[in-house]
Amino acid sequence: MPTAEVAKRIKELKEKHNAIILAHNYQIEEVQDIADYVGDSFGLSQIAAETDADVIVFCGVHFMAESAKILSPDKKVILPVLDAGCPMADMVDVEGLRELKAKHPGVPVVTYVNSSAAVKAESDVCCTSSNAVEVVNSIDSDTVIFTPDKNLGSYVASKTNKNVIIWEGYCITHHRVEPDEVRKVKEAHPDALVLVHPETRPEVVALADHVDSTAGILRYVRESNHKKFIIGTEMGILHRLKKENPDKEFYILTPKLICANMKKTHLSHVLEALETLSPEIHVPEEIRIKAKRALERMLAIKG
Ligand code: 13P
Ligand code: SF4
Repeated sequence: MPTAEVAKRIKELKEKHNAIILAHNYQIEEVQDIADYVGDSFGLSQIAAETDADVIVFCGVHFMAESAKILSPDKKVILPVLDAGCPMADMVDVEGLRELKAKHPGVPVVTYVNSSAAVKAESDVCCTSSNAVEVVNSIDSDTVIFTPDKNLGSYVASKTNKNVIIWEGYCITHHRVEPDEVRKVKEAHPDALVLVHPETRPEVVALADHVDSTAGILRYVRESNHKKFIIGTEMGILHRLKKENPDKEFYILTPKLICANMKKTHLSHVLEALETLSPEIHVPEEIRIKAKRALERMLAIKG
């Protein structure tokens, strides 16, 4: 089917089922263009919590759709490609986290949303890359456990006065970026600002002009008088950056900045998801209730 026809059919089915399509900033262009909302993990979870749609089609990775289901259990939440996962989220499990908690009794656990529902259920509060510093600062304890991203954990430790016990996980996409690549691209474009995601290594963060979530990077560029930017996050974000800022120039920090899982969802999957209302995401109720507490605490800190 031609793209325009697929898009038309998607729109019809969306109305029929009172569905909304949420897409992460890293999704492919066609999927971003068909979505009702495109955003970062925080913004999309806020919409998932507040929407009055009956069906949420989540174009992103598994943990994002799971968070939507945790927050909106009465809605049908669909992840068009069920094996679109996040390798970082798979780097922490409940048993390992329980062991770490047992070594540090009473220390609150802050868990990045890039994690399973079961891990969230073992945590005191969640955070995203847009609010990790605020969430950690809000905790009434000098020491916190931070899972699963060691790079975001290091960034948070550098921005707060807390003692942060950091889990050894990382994003296989952002962790690939080398400080030397930053130096080279800066040499090639000396008048461009370097904007990076906090999932990059501390040595990369140290060379950046600004560190932020994907929505934060979009906001920064929108509000900046600067004209040229080197982008240190997954390349899917370039679509919105270019669309929203036609007068500005963007250079991807390295072509390695591509997340295979974020690229799995195509328009044909979105159409199929709306035709079949599947694959649906389910979360066992006892886990959901505990995970919801951790997510809602986060939403209350920065809403
Ligand atoms: P954001 O919350 O900044 O959109 O990031 C999500 C993510 O998976 C980054 O790799
Ligand atoms: Fe996970 Fe990294 Fe892909 Fe984000 S970019 S979904 S953290 S693997």
